[in-house]
Amino acid sequence: MTNTTKPAIFISESEIQSRIQKLSVEIQNFYKNYNLETEQSLVVVGVLKGAAIFTSDLIRSLELPIQLEFVRLASYGDGTQSGILTAPDLSLPNISGRHILIIEDIVDTGKTAVFLKQYLQDQFQPKTLKLASLLNKPSRRLTDVQPDFVGFEIEDKFVIGYGLDWAEKYRELKYLGIIDES
Ligand code: IMP
Ligand code: MG
Repeated sequence: MTNTTKPAIFISESEIQSRIQKLSVEIQNFYKNYNLETEQSLVVVGVLKGAAIFTSDLIRSLELPIQLEFVRLASYGDGTQSGILTAPDLSLPNISGRHILIIEDIVDTGKTAVFLKQYLQDQFQPKTLKLASLLNKPSRRLTDVQPDFVGFEIEDKFVIGYGLDWAEKYRELKYLGIIDES
């Protein structure tokens, strides 16, 4: 290894994992009101690539029957600003009338969340449609969307790791880090 310098820790692996335990309880409490069974399980729609790791930890912590689906969305901008939204893969099976929980890595401007909520609503008229996000950056919101379940509320900082990238780097880190934007 030539370069072992790792980004500074912002939220540690153990903080993430303990928050996920509590978040699972909040989510389970909401779905307790409905009779989720294997036939009509909860459909989790993870948003690739950023939410892949959070989705895999969260669903293993949720004590609910789940059907796991993914869509792939991307927001191309320069550096640390989210920009134009593209949808490389929106293919899903017929999940009409089901309970759908979207899992995002971060809600920043909210454009991704607004687009996906509207798309799933129009296509599938779900029984309930909820959004869980590992991170929420409310100060950057340009839309009026709010995640229903949030891991951590954060300031306007660019974070990486635990699925989140900077130019496709750092997704593999076990913790959330901050990179120096200069
Ligand atoms: P939106 O602006 O809410 O639509 O978020 C678009 C996407 O920008 C998110 O799903 C992330 O992939 C990315 N993004 C926003 N803020 C950050 C950050 O702090 N670190 C890494 N990616 C981010
Ligand atoms: Mg993302």
